[in-house]
Amino acid sequence: YKILFATSEAHPLIKTGGLGDVAGILPIELARLGLEVGIILPAYPTCKTYLKNLKEVVYLRLPAVLEPVRILKGQLPEGPNPVWLVDSPAHFDRPGNPYLNEKGQDWPDNAARFTTFCQAVAALANNPEFGWQPDLIHCNDWQTGLIPPFLTLLKSRPATLFTIHNLAYQGVFPRQQFDALKLPTKWWSPAALEFYHQFSFIKGGLVFADWLTTVSPTYAKEILTPKLGFGLDGVLRERAQHLTGILNGADYQRWDPRHDPFIEKRYDQTCWSHKADNKLALQRCYDLPEDKNLPLLGFVGRLVEQKGIDLILDALPKLLTEKIQVVFLGEGEERHQNTLQKLASRYPSQIGVSIRYDERLAHGIQAGADIFLMPSRFEPCGLTQLYALRYGTVPIVRRTGGLSDTIVDATEENLRQELATGFTFTESSPSALLIAIQRALACYAQSRQWRRLALTGMAQNFSWQISAKAYLELYQQLISPKFSCKS
Ligand code: ADP
Ligand code: GLC
Repeated sequence: YKILFATSEAHPLIKTGGLGDVAGILPIELARLGLEVGIILPAYPTCKTYLKNLKEVVYLRLPAVLEPVRILKGQLPEGPNPVWLVDSPAHFDRPGNPYLNEKGQDWPDNAARFTTFCQAVAALANNPEFGWQPDLIHCNDWQTGLIPPFLTLLKSRPATLFTIHNLAYQGVFPRQQFDALKLPTKWWSPAALEFYHQFSFIKGGLVFADWLTTVSPTYAKEILTPKLGFGLDGVLRERAQHLTGILNGADYQRWDPRHDPFIEKRYDQTCWSHKADNKLALQRCYDLPEDKNLPLLGFVGRLVEQKGIDLILDALPKLLTEKIQVVFLGEGEERHQNTLQKLASRYPSQIGVSIRYDERLAHGIQAGADIFLMPSRFEPCGLTQLYALRYGTVPIVRRTGGLSDTIVDATEENLRQELATGFTFTESSPSALLIAIQRALACYAQSRQWRRLALTGMAQNFSWQISAKAYLELYQQLISPKFSCKS
């Protein structure tokens, strides 16, 4: 089978979050299972620099785009997968973040940019010049949401799967943009792309794709409820028979303290004490007093409400009466960035803050911290808690989405049975988070018990192989002529 994996980011070409991690490894794992999996993404400048020897394979004339769009072909150095880039310089040849300008605002032409991307992908589906006919197109998040509707305009088309990595990001634009893009007028309907009088990209995926998945079984249920459905729970309930949750994995080639090139000292369960060298390095990096015995808490993530960063900020004043240190790496909303920076200058010996995107430091925190903070309000899957487990950095998580599916609370019973891997709490409040942190600190003080907890985490296996097999089975089912619910 040929599978075309459409995504707006893929590590190492371009990445802003977990989607980049997933798209960087899942196609490779699927290829290991014998599938031919190509990746297609917009030709951002970093992609063009990263992929050497790009060749032009097709020129497309798209209705809403003045210049012809070039399709460039390259090859992932790490895997057997072909990569295609949709090269429309007016849309994608700009520096920095794929979705935001230097001021952190959405690019004003995002609707046109990702319509172009989706239209180009659909135009390749049955294109003899392209010479690679996919049996299924696997779409990911709102940036690819118009691919399934565009495909329904073809006489015959590949099967489609749409994966929701985060329902909170929907690609919603004013009606004028829908009109300006000259999309089929029949799509302006609540049964298609209209969402409360606006134009929604994600609805294209949710309504038109043959099947929907999301990235954990618990999140697959949560998005059917008004609380976590972000206004789309009704649409999703209608498709509940065609929606499943497949848990993400962790890429242990990149995220394993045994062979991580970014960290100070490599370690595994047998030389666990080496983790302390990474802690000292992390303290140095943040100009904090070096002390192996002080509990060091770490946070890596986007500074947005989803991640519960505000819960941490509210809990901090009380928390800092304890003898602890906390380090942060992230970028996001300005108000959180400012509060963090203020706190860092007020508590220079206890708080370290880095407001930037830094792959190396993300690894350094996983290796150097004792505790990983992830009090998310919602979390479709979450990858950083999986990485933390592998690095023996005990996660503290709120019980939601993929966090519920991956972290086992350190109750006395679970500790005794060596099942516990972290600390979980339920209520989205600073006080509930604080109680969980205090439980963790009490456990940390008993070094033998702590070590056992961390080593149980390190022994967990969230490998991509398992998830890739689940995708393979689903692809087979969708491609099979017996699958009769193509929209
Ligand atoms: P999400 O996709 O919601 O942001 P995930 O936990 O699935 O959350 O994945 C986040 C990914 O992005 C991880 O690989 C994490 O290490 C990385 N990341 C997030 N913020 C930063 C940052 N400021 N610097 C480096 N890596 C980051
Ligand atoms: C999203 C989610 C995150 C998930 C990632 C990869 O960004 O917020 O929970 O792990 O996608 O699927």
